[in-house]
Amino acid sequence: MVLMTLKPWLAISILFSFFISNVIGAFVGINIGTDVTNLPPASDVVALLKARQITHVRLFNADAHMLNALANTSIEVIIGVTNEEVLGIGESPSTAAAWVNRNVAAYMPGTNITAIAVGSEVLTAIPNAAPVLVPAMNYLHKALVASRLNNQVKVSTPQSMDVIAKAFPPSTATFNSSWNSTIFQILQFLRNTNSYYMLNAYPYYEYVHSDGIFPIEYALFQPLSAVKQIVDPNTLFHYVSMFDALVDATYNSIEALNFSDIPVVVTETGWPWAGGSN
Ligand SMILES: *[C@@H]1O[C@H](CO)[C@@H](O)[C@H](O)[C@H]1NC(C)=O
Ligand SMILES: *[C@@H]1O[C@H](CO)[C@@H](O)[C@H](O)[C@H]1NC(C)=O
Ligand SMILES: *[C@@H]1O[C@H](CO)[C@@H](O)[C@H](O)[C@H]1NC(C)=O
Ligand SMILES: *[C@@H]1O[C@H](CO)[C@@H](O)[C@H](O)[C@H]1NC(C)=O
Ligand SMILES: *[C@@H]1O[C@H](CO)[C@@H](O)[C@H](O)[C@H]1NC(C)=O
Repeated sequence: MVLMTLKPWLAISILFSFFISNVIGAFVGINIGTDVTNLPPASDVVALLKARQITHVRLFNADAHMLNALANTSIEVIIGVTNEEVLGIGESPSTAAAWVNRNVAAYMPGTNITAIAVGSEVLTAIPNAAPVLVPAMNYLHKALVASRLNNQVKVSTPQSMDVIAKAFPPSTATFNSSWNSTIFQILQFLRNTNSYYMLNAYPYYEYVHSDGIFPIEYALFQPLSAVKQIVDPNTLFHYVSMFDALVDATYNSIEALNFSDIPVVVTETGWPWAGGSN
């Protein structure tokens, strides 16, 4: 990271939207968890999504009410295997097949399920489940193949930025080498099944852990003054947003393991509604 004067910021936006628009299309969606106490009825949630013209949702768990309510809408749905379910699925193809039948096949084609997110930040949240993560993805994919749903429904697994050892500057980012073999298997799976890397990218965490190196505007998508420009010294890309830098760090980490054709989709981002403790 270098502080420099203002220059047109171009290279990153082309790279980013090129990848996204050719493979998946740029969109903004929302995540919905149903383990909260005050969630309105599923039909009200879907009415709200429609009113706000939200075209993509990710359900943290395969909630039957939401899956039903999303039927016959044009909303695309990523459904989640919970971390609690990953172990059982990774140890048993028949558990995986039952999961797909119950939570995916039963709702299609009415509900437009486009992906299964296997666990949530498994490598860093429940590292002891790492050995079963890729088997779980494989078993779910095989179950989709058996149900002839594998062309519509991708399988992937959202990871946090913590699997990347050093995200800045983005050009030299690599995965934490402790995770080499699992990440390598994940990337092989994603490439072989034409799936994509799911990234949970929170500028908030990078900002609070950066000891004041980054200006707050950089984390909040706000304009940076000329003296605060963030530049990657190797590529000379000017980053106006930490979000973009996190996405590029992920692309570069993937490329460092010699996988260049795997799109990155951000499955979570956000900011604490009441701010951090400080
Ligand atoms: C979706 O539409 C189909 C065809 O009109 C209908 O048979 C089905 O009951 C609808 N599903 C839901 C959950 O509304
Ligand atoms: C479901 O989503 C896919 C992927 O974007 C899209 O191609 C397809 O048209 C959608 N299907 C329906 C019925 O909306
Ligand atoms: C890499 O991961 C290991 C194991 O989780 C952890 O102890 C280490 O601090 C991480 N290194 C970096 C640079 O994040
Ligand atoms: C992980 O992969 C990187 C890049 O190929 C390599 O430098 C590193 O030694 C590997 N680490 C382990 C623990 O295998
Ligand atoms: C990636 O490919 C380069 C060039 O072929 C090779 O030198 C390097 O060792 C490879 N890295 C990994 C992690 O396989």
